[in-house]
Amino acid sequence: MPELDLPQRQATDTLMLTGFWYRALPADRVHRNQLHKATLLEIPLVIGRDRQGQPFALRDACPHRGMPLNSGKFDGENLECPYHGWQFDVHNGQCQLIPSLTHDQTLKVDRIYAGSYPCEEQDGFIWVYISDPAPQGAGFTAPAEAPDAAPQIEKFTTKYKLAYLQAEMPVSIDHGIIGLMDPAHGPFVHQAWWWRTRHSIHEKRKNFEPIPNGFRMSAHTPSSNSAPYKLLRLYADADSITTTIDFVLPNIRTETIRAGKYWFSSLTTVTPITRSQCRIDVVAAWNLFRWLPFGADLLKFVFTKFVEQDRRTMEMQAEGLKHNPHLMLIDDADRPAKWYFQLKAAHLESKRTGTEMKHPMSDPITLKWRS
Ligand code: FES
Ligand SMILES: [Fe+2]
Repeated sequence: MPELDLPQRQATDTLMLTGFWYRALPADRVHRNQLHKATLLEIPLVIGRDRQGQPFALRDACPHRGMPLNSGKFDGENLECPYHGWQFDVHNGQCQLIPSLTHDQTLKVDRIYAGSYPCEEQDGFIWVYISDPAPQGAGFTAPAEAPDAAPQIEKFTTKYKLAYLQAEMPVSIDHGIIGLMDPAHGPFVHQAWWWRTRHSIHEKRKNFEPIPNGFRMSAHTPSSNSAPYKLLRLYADADSITTTIDFVLPNIRTETIRAGKYWFSSLTTVTPITRSQCRIDVVAAWNLFRWLPFGADLLKFVFTKFVEQDRRTMEMQAEGLKHNPHLMLIDDADRPAKWYFQLKAAHLESKRTGTEMKHPMSDPITLKWRS
């Protein structure tokens, strides 16, 4: 079909890992028969829900001549481009109608596809699977399927509460992620009279172990100045409380705190919007505070404060980064950041060679730092 040109392909690089699920929008903002714009990995998307409430994600550019589809007409099933009225099935992007064709013209409409991405609703968010870019010339094929389901928060009872928090950061995903796993900024960035001061700094030792695609801070009694821990002490014996923190590629940090029958779980993602902009989404689930009147609000207040402190710090950091300074990572406090870069390199190398990923950590290891 030489008269039809391929949509522009996204170049992949280390800031834009394809072949993973990414959080796109909070589910409570996406209503039936409405179209929303979102950007993931510099890909413009139009996101909505069909008549049954099922979410979908299409590339926000018509395959005909690039018109954004978000201003098109949507009937709950097909989306009509506002330029020449081509219609596309929202779930697989397949073209349904080209109004300009005469009845004797034989162009095979159903071989044309608008870019379409697997889409799932999970724990209050619409997730979109960003597949590896198809090889040049392989347009007009049905969309890729996701190899697995979107990530889920681990839950330990059937009844629980769920809340989310978001913040946009004017830095690349790498700075967003290493900022998130950086233990040494706590005493300086997250000070508050009701929380901790920089004088509460003390030596810590934490055990880490390799897990598939990432690493784990092994189950331990949380640090006495961690937020959920202070609240959990209201419910359980201080030493019955354990926490486990995982990081897995491309961008997921999970934290699970258990105290007897009570638990608190969070799944935080840092999503690349563009090369120089990311968004942090914290989603937490818990079964606490059923009888503590302001417990949930208190926790949300603490988290909002933390995320805002991180956001402000990264906004200032972005100023310095404009001048492209040489950066350092030191042992042991920046070791998790080093693992992150090594994991990404190993992942990309395994994709390039088609061989199994070589994990950068071979054994469990103890790290020490003061924070
Ligand atoms: S640009 Fe969409 S139908 Fe022509
Ligand atoms: Fe922080």
